[in-house]
Amino acid sequence: MECVSNKHVFIFMFCLVFLTPLVCSQLYYNFYNRTCPNLNKIVKDNILSAIANDSRIAASLLRLHFHDCFVNGCDGSVLLDDTDTLKGEKNALPNKNSIRGFDVIDKIKSDLENACPSTVSCADILTLAARDAVYQSKGPFWAVPLGRRDGTTASESDANNLPSPFEPLENITAKFISKGLEKKDVAVLSGAHTFGFAQCFTFKPRLFDFGGSGKSDPSLDSSLLQNLQKVCPNQADSDSNLAPLDPVTTNTFDNTYYKNVLSNSGLLQSDQALLGDNTTSALVTNYSKWPILFFRDFAVSVEKMGRIGILAGQQGQIRKNCRAVN
Ligand SMILES: *[C@@H]1O[C@H](CO)[C@@H](O)[C@H](O)[C@H]1NC(C)=O
Ligand SMILES: *[C@@H]1O[C@H](CO)[C@@H](O)[C@H](O)[C@H]1NC(C)=O
Ligand SMILES: *[C@@H]1O[C@H](CO)[C@@H](O)[C@H](O)[C@H]1NC(C)=O
Ligand SMILES: *[C@@H]1O[C@H](CO)[C@@H](O)[C@H](O)[C@H]1NC(C)=O
Ligand SMILES: *[C@@H]1O[C@H](CO)[C@@H](O)[C@H](O)[C@H]1NC(C)=O
Repeated sequence: MECVSNKHVFIFMFCLVFLTPLVCSQLYYNFYNRTCPNLNKIVKDNILSAIANDSRIAASLLRLHFHDCFVNGCDGSVLLDDTDTLKGEKNALPNKNSIRGFDVIDKIKSDLENACPSTVSCADILTLAARDAVYQSKGPFWAVPLGRRDGTTASESDANNLPSPFEPLENITAKFISKGLEKKDVAVLSGAHTFGFAQCFTFKPRLFDFGGSGKSDPSLDSSLLQNLQKVCPNQADSDSNLAPLDPVTTNTFDNTYYKNVLSNSGLLQSDQALLGDNTTSALVTNYSKWPILFFRDFAVSVEKMGRIGILAGQQGQIRKNCRAVN
């Protein structure tokens, strides 16, 4: 309890006595104000130097937060290494050979353990890192509610069930709804494909064998198709080659993604699929026109995502090392 301020203890006790635990697994914007006053600066400085070293890392960190929250909730489970007794998420298919950013989280954690030992959870570090990665890529800033605690388990099988770019929109939407999000959030959070890169295997069927047709996806812009076929020739050894998700402003978090989708230049099948539904397609059009609307809605959706299945109060633990349960 030493890492929780008196006010939080009071609110926690109040919740315990008067309200249901469901209402009360709460997060607070100023959760670490007194216990770790340099938190924001430590995260920010690390994200700035990580991006300076590798601009692609910003998108990787946002994806890491997404893959944490959609599996077991935002509890840092994705950060756990496999052990003899714990089969982690890092080797699940959607993560293996593609999930990145662990070194950045480790460095932030080690700086924080020096500044305020056993205080800040790995789940909160990941949430703040994702926010700063977006903001430092010229995207929106939003306040991050804090106080998540770290889980002591992970689930490889749940990680294998993460939304996939090969699934139809209805299936992806169903997975979002099962996490308490909605169809709008699919359109909004897909906007994360405005920066970063994807490996060829995630969109190759669109180039050579769309839906088993032996032909390319007729909805893909033809000059983009030609470029992509050069980056990802039709042979297995090109599977891990990289193509930018947004070839126009690759390292910038902006609304260009939605302009790309509207001009049949979304990279993934799931990007293009947003046009096949009236609700998501209207959102794509609106975000392509109004970047501020996209920024506002993205901040709302990502904060909502950051509340999925959190541990708070006395649940879970504060890991000392993000890769291992204490
Ligand atoms: C304390 O938290 C508030 C948000 O509730 C924030 O605006 C303020 O900057 C924080 N102060 C410090 C010293 O971190
Ligand atoms: C810089 O980025 C590369 C590529 O992601 C990574 O392998 C390396 O560890 C990073 N170096 C530092 C000092 O962060
Ligand atoms: C989509 O969901 C349906 C119903 O759950 C399932 O039968 C189908 O296999 C899924 N499609 C894909 C491509 O995952
Ligand atoms: C979607 O929009 C089209 C064209 O505006 C309309 O014909 C169709 O009925 C709409 N579908 C649904 C399910 O609302
Ligand atoms: C898109 O913007 C128009 C014009 O402001 C609005 O009427 C419509 O409801 C918006 N569509 C969605 C899905 O938000």
